[in-house]
Amino acid sequence: MSSEPLILGIETSCDETAVGIVRGRKLLANVISSSVEEHARFGGVVPEIASRAHLEAMPSVIATALSEAKIKLNDLDAITVTAGPGLIGALVVGTSSAAGLALGLNKPLYGVNHLSAHIAVDALDSDHPLDPAIALLVSGGHSSILQVNNLTSDVKTLGSTIDDAAGEAFDKVARLLELPFPGGPSIDHDALSGNPIAIEFPRGLTLAKDLADHKYDFSFSGLKTAVARYLQQIPNYQRADVSASFQEAVVDVLLIKTIAAAKASGIETIIIAGGVAANSRLRELAQDRTESAGLLLRIPPRKLCTDNGAMVAALGSLAVTQGIAPSTLGFGPDSSSGIARPIF
Ligand code: KG4
Ligand code: ZN
Repeated sequence: MSSEPLILGIETSCDETAVGIVRGRKLLANVISSSVEEHARFGGVVPEIASRAHLEAMPSVIATALSEAKIKLNDLDAITVTAGPGLIGALVVGTSSAAGLALGLNKPLYGVNHLSAHIAVDALDSDHPLDPAIALLVSGGHSSILQVNNLTSDVKTLGSTIDDAAGEAFDKVARLLELPFPGGPSIDHDALSGNPIAIEFPRGLTLAKDLADHKYDFSFSGLKTAVARYLQQIPNYQRADVSASFQEAVVDVLLIKTIAAAKASGIETIIIAGGVAANSRLRELAQDRTESAGLLLRIPPRKLCTDNGAMVAALGSLAVTQGIAPSTLGFGPDSSSGIARPIF
């Protein structure tokens, strides 16, 4: 192996069939085939459709990534793959493909955690230390504040959503507003022409009585209900104002709690990761507020925030560089694995 490991990462936990290739911390290829349009008419991801789409797309996505990176399969030092959390049938396609490749090429195989990978993507094309950091991880399935002491071995959950994930709230409110799925990008775009202070929507779990038990936890179901009630009461509502005000409520509470966690921990770096980290208002307000608080902010480029293979390769590359032992070929995908298990 040259000094920098050459790693291929496969991601199939939801509706993206994605393959990334990195050398050390350098991004060489990032190819994504999404089945999102096949799910759109159902208003959410249909697991069986996702699994079939992964099977169909996998060979060409791998081939395109290899040609983009200008390498051959045999050049690789290891294969890495999302082992969980995610849709079980979708994970099985990715992990089986990865195991087949690793076996055929006689290369080490690393099953990695999807949530840790969302954070690890921040390593690419830069050389700053990844940890310690306070991470705000916000996606379609998860919303947590994490204390990342060591990304591959020691991540503590400080708080999580007690009901909907932030991305799920975007998706559900978009449906109420009859905006297309997935809701996050639709609301983000619609909000650009709206007034974020037009409607005062609730900030979940920020009252003194809630903070005692839920200091760093989130709740978005009350907000969704408040939006639904508003739409019933004001039939000729201004959609862009509702989008902007809803988005402001989500982003405000995410940042209040993340910055409070950073201050309490004494850790000066905040990483924002996961699909919702692509949100323009979150990116903008995070910049303002971390600057005022004297904290350092890191957010991956937008296209690396939503699910991709580069993040899986990035975490695999960290594991290889740190001399972590590979997974055994027989490891199984785990649809509900938490962040406490970064490498399988
Ligand atoms: O991380 P991700 O791609 O998949 C999961 O691991 O869940 O996150 C997908 C979620 C979806 O709920 C989507 O609506 C949301 O991220 N999302 C956004 C934006 N782009 C994607 N939410 C708000 N603003 C965006 N620009
Ligand atoms: Zn994700």
